[in-house]
Amino acid sequence: MKERLQELEQEALNQVEQAKTLADLDKVRVAFLGKKGPITEVLRGMGKLSAEERPVIGELANKVRSAITTELEQKKAKLELAVLDQQLKAETIDVTLPGRPVPVGGPHLLTSVVREIEDLFIGMGFEVREGPEVETDYYNFEALNLPKDHPARDTQDSFYITEELLLRTQTSPVQARTMNEYKGNQSIKMICPGKVYRRDTDDATHSHQFTQVEGLYVDKNVRMSDLKGVLNQFVKHFFGEEREIRFRPSFFPFTEPSVEIDISCKLCHGKGCSVCKQTGWIEILGGGMVHPEVLRMGGYDPEVYSGFAFGMGPERIAMLKYGVDDIRHFYTNDIRFLKQYHQA
Ligand code: DAH
Repeated sequence: MKERLQELEQEALNQVEQAKTLADLDKVRVAFLGKKGPITEVLRGMGKLSAEERPVIGELANKVRSAITTELEQKKAKLELAVLDQQLKAETIDVTLPGRPVPVGGPHLLTSVVREIEDLFIGMGFEVREGPEVETDYYNFEALNLPKDHPARDTQDSFYITEELLLRTQTSPVQARTMNEYKGNQSIKMICPGKVYRRDTDDATHSHQFTQVEGLYVDKNVRMSDLKGVLNQFVKHFFGEEREIRFRPSFFPFTEPSVEIDISCKLCHGKGCSVCKQTGWIEILGGGMVHPEVLRMGGYDPEVYSGFAFGMGPERIAMLKYGVDDIRHFYTNDIRFLKQYHQA
């Protein structure tokens, strides 16, 4: 019995030593110390031993069991440590690796320019409004003093959808829409940025689709000098303090009198160069005093109210400010062009 126990101890310790995983080790524990294991069996058979043998074998059996248990525990701790070690190795992050650059986008130049224009006019008390791009013939033309057979309609070749619906050729219809909404008895101070469409052949300065910003101020006693003051502020903030503006007589069916507004040329300071076609001035927008007929159709009494209006093209303004030489750059989306204007 003694030898059997010593053999069992040796055998168990050998197997513990050889166990490579925690599962192997558990098998060894069950095999030797489990309820059906050989040591339990020896202890169970103690009844058959003589009174002298019993305490000797009992003590030995307990010693063997505790020796195996200790060995099992030590090996278990070792294997657990090895598992942890391996896990740590597998999950190691090399914090010294340089990061991968994440490309960051930015607003399109045109978006930035429109936002800048909006900010400047909001600062002068204007609200920003919107109107539909698919517009009725009435708002796009008639309500702006351009009846059906008016020759000035030809200057804005249009994309008609039906007889009465078209892609708006200008943002001016939002003037008429706003007047209708304000019901002829409230003052209006609004700008409206948006897309417009014309049947033009695309080239460096023409596009079938471009952007406009409309402006409208209607109140009692609005005068041409108010228009000049507002636009002067805009030009000085947008293009620079040193820029001057001048008004030139012009014609638009919805304003009377009508003007075209020029800014002094940045390059030659008014002396004349190729950018300003030797005139010293560059045209940037159209405007004038709202035509009495337009006020009347909008529900405003021209005897009581007066107003000014203007319209500008952000593409043209961006081209002048940033030296862009072709309007097509705005929508061909060449990333090399767009990137130059990303602000951090
Ligand atoms: N709608 C005009 C155009 O597209 C621009 C314009 C001129 C707008 C004079 C106005 C204005 O409001 O008063 O050519």
